[in-house]
Amino acid sequence: MKIAVFAGDGIGPEVTREAVRVLEALGLPGLELDEADVGGVAYKRHGHPLPPETLAVARASDAILFGAVGDPDCDNLERHLRPEQAILGLRKELGLFANLRPAKVFAGLEDFSALRPEVAGAIDLLLVRELNGDVYFGEKGIRTLPDGRRQGWDMMSYAEDEVRRIAHVAFRAAMTRGNRLCSVDKANVLETSQVWRDVMIEVAREYPSVELTHMYVDNAAMQLVRNPGQFDVVVTGNLFGDILSDQASMCVGSIGLLASASLGEGSFGLYEPIHGSAPDIAGKGLANPMATILSAAMLLRHSLGLEAEAARIEAAVAKALADGIRGGDLGGSHGTAAIGDAVLERL
Ligand code: IPM
Ligand code: MG
Repeated sequence: MKIAVFAGDGIGPEVTREAVRVLEALGLPGLELDEADVGGVAYKRHGHPLPPETLAVARASDAILFGAVGDPDCDNLERHLRPEQAILGLRKELGLFANLRPAKVFAGLEDFSALRPEVAGAIDLLLVRELNGDVYFGEKGIRTLPDGRRQGWDMMSYAEDEVRRIAHVAFRAAMTRGNRLCSVDKANVLETSQVWRDVMIEVAREYPSVELTHMYVDNAAMQLVRNPGQFDVVVTGNLFGDILSDQASMCVGSIGLLASASLGEGSFGLYEPIHGSAPDIAGKGLANPMATILSAAMLLRHSLGLEAEAARIEAAVAKALADGIRGGDLGGSHGTAAIGDAVLERL
């Protein structure tokens, strides 16, 4: 079992270190961890945010544990050299088209949500975000119009096969949960969304036990704060999913608690916290590593088939939270290593 560990920038290395300690504590036979540089740190050392050596380590692994990328020093670089290109490049190069972002409130943390506790307590949803298409990967550019004005443009598109494969992931996920799938689009305005919706309806015929509904993205943003308990599985495109998943994290209470999996057709996957590199607190030992530790649990479950070990880690995190272990993101004073220790003790 080879796990590539790409810690990246900002708080990435600190939170990843704690997740690695947790993985090592399980004492899994044959577990091998291979580190490589990604993001701004890779640009500084190798001249590219996703160097070929890093991609080679990724390809030779069974799964990737990813920290975070993003570095304000790199904000003025040409776009293809910016740290964010590392994660976008890995998703594209490795065919990781399905992003699973579960959002659920941990018992006892209802008060940390930006929503009223009784509203927040009802959240238990899975956001399935398409990750290889949409306006993220379309042609784009900045051009000068004949009258001299600058114009930025980005091409949004979805081909039916791209929609179909993410639809299957979402329907299958719904069947393991509450059998309800809400597809989020903007079909009242965008042709891209019309194709998205038509394909969702076609695929639904293969899953008669799942109830498919549709919602415009603006309404979905509203419903997510009004009554998030109504959602079971939500499936949406790359851009809408990016936005709604950050919103869902605040409904839960902290972005420091949410894990994600990015999957392709096989068992290979990339696992990362949904938070970013948080340069303001980087290197201070303040970041909450729980989202990365929970990402490691998802890695064990989805890529290595180690359900029992995954559940053990999740239970240890839940126990730590129940015992009052709180990072700064939850108004507490536990630092990164202290939270790692607390999870390890309970493991
Ligand atoms: C995410 C992030 C990335 C995205 C950035 C870092 C490119 O916001 O994983 O949600 O937009 O997909
Ligand atoms: Mg995002």
